[in-house]
Amino acid sequence: MNVCEYIPGLENIPAARSSISYVDGQEGILEYRGIRIEELAEKGSFLETAYLLIWGELPTKSELEIFEMDIRYHRRIKYRIRDMMKCFPETGHPMDALQTSAAALGLFYARRALDNPDYIRKAVVRLLAKIPTMVAASHQMRRGNDPIQPNDNLDYAANFLYMMTERKPDPLEARIFDVCLTLHAEHTMNASTFSAMVTASTLTDPYAVVASAVGTLAGPLHGGANEEVLRMLEEIGSVENVRPYIENCIVNKHKIMGFGHRVYKVKDPRANILQSLAEQLFEKTGHDEYYAIALEVEKVVEEKLGHKGIYANVDFYSGLVYRKLGIPSDLFTPLFAIARVAGWLAHWKEQLAVNRIFRPTQVYIGEHNMPYIPIEKRAMSQRNGH
Ligand code: ACO
Repeated sequence: MNVCEYIPGLENIPAARSSISYVDGQEGILEYRGIRIEELAEKGSFLETAYLLIWGELPTKSELEIFEMDIRYHRRIKYRIRDMMKCFPETGHPMDALQTSAAALGLFYARRALDNPDYIRKAVVRLLAKIPTMVAASHQMRRGNDPIQPNDNLDYAANFLYMMTERKPDPLEARIFDVCLTLHAEHTMNASTFSAMVTASTLTDPYAVVASAVGTLAGPLHGGANEEVLRMLEEIGSVENVRPYIENCIVNKHKIMGFGHRVYKVKDPRANILQSLAEQLFEKTGHDEYYAIALEVEKVVEEKLGHKGIYANVDFYSGLVYRKLGIPSDLFTPLFAIARVAGWLAHWKEQLAVNRIFRPTQVYIGEHNMPYIPIEKRAMSQRNGH
């Protein structure tokens, strides 16, 4: 490859050598540290998965117990951070609130010792512990309520649902939410992970690393398609409307939300797991009016676009699950962030171990040797009409 060749979006350019996760898009395989996602979803927990991603191996029983206990202990956020969050406008997007709050942690835990394993561990624990509390607290405060304090008797997933609803969740609901976190914890190189790594490479603090990744995840081209899926299912409204709706999208070249993926050319393995979770949830809590529509959408899209490798992705069934758990749709991307903190921190640690500051180049396409025109002689046309 010519080193000066410009590749928009750096498509297919490796940005790291990594042993954190692996995707085979032709076979529909996703592995974290070599372990298949299906196995982790069935047998593991989110915090066990976070430990695996960040420290590279599954924890022993006592390592996991200590890790969970540390996280439980650090869930509360400082009153001054709560007071700061109270001043956020209630109309602001929860992702902006989360980015600001994550960055604020750097003010309160300012000591930076990136070569000290104890500092690294504490930062990991604080971020995993406090990000869910911040998401739930800002959700309560924008509705005019006081935040609900973390409940020390509940595990990670159950405690988050408790802080959102003030009721102890049913064990199946908590287990399903925990699996959703595992499924979203990591996904090789992507925009927010790359953003985390670029920020990490300057040797800034981990709170800035996570804040910058949250800001990147917030854009509509990255997080957020599951919100669009729900909107689409509502718009379709009935099973009979599915076929004409999809045919119309295809004729008019509109993207069908929750389908297609840059890497997967078969059904995303996470979509299979989420679909089965959705079914378990509906069996327990009652039928969801949109599930039958979703099944028909998947059938028609496969029939019409399967030959192009377009199948359901992770976002297609996650919105249905979150809605059934009582989570408002503008919190779907913050939920993604809660889970992805694990992956971002794993990449932060991996980056620190072999760090070289990111400093790509550019292909300059501007002018040279331009005259300096005195201000009184400048015309609008010289500024391209702006
Ligand atoms: N609906 C209809 N047609 C589609 C879809 C879709 N969802 N996705 C791709 N296609 C078609 C394109 O129109 C194009 O057709 P053409 O070759 O006839 O022009 C072909 O498939 C290739 O599409 P690209 O957009 O070039 O594929 P790319 O790999 O760049 O895009 C993406 C992947 C962005 C995910 C795309 O499939 C999409 O926009 N999907 C809908 C949004 C969505 O669900 N996003 C979540 C992705 S998962 C995640 O980010 C966590």
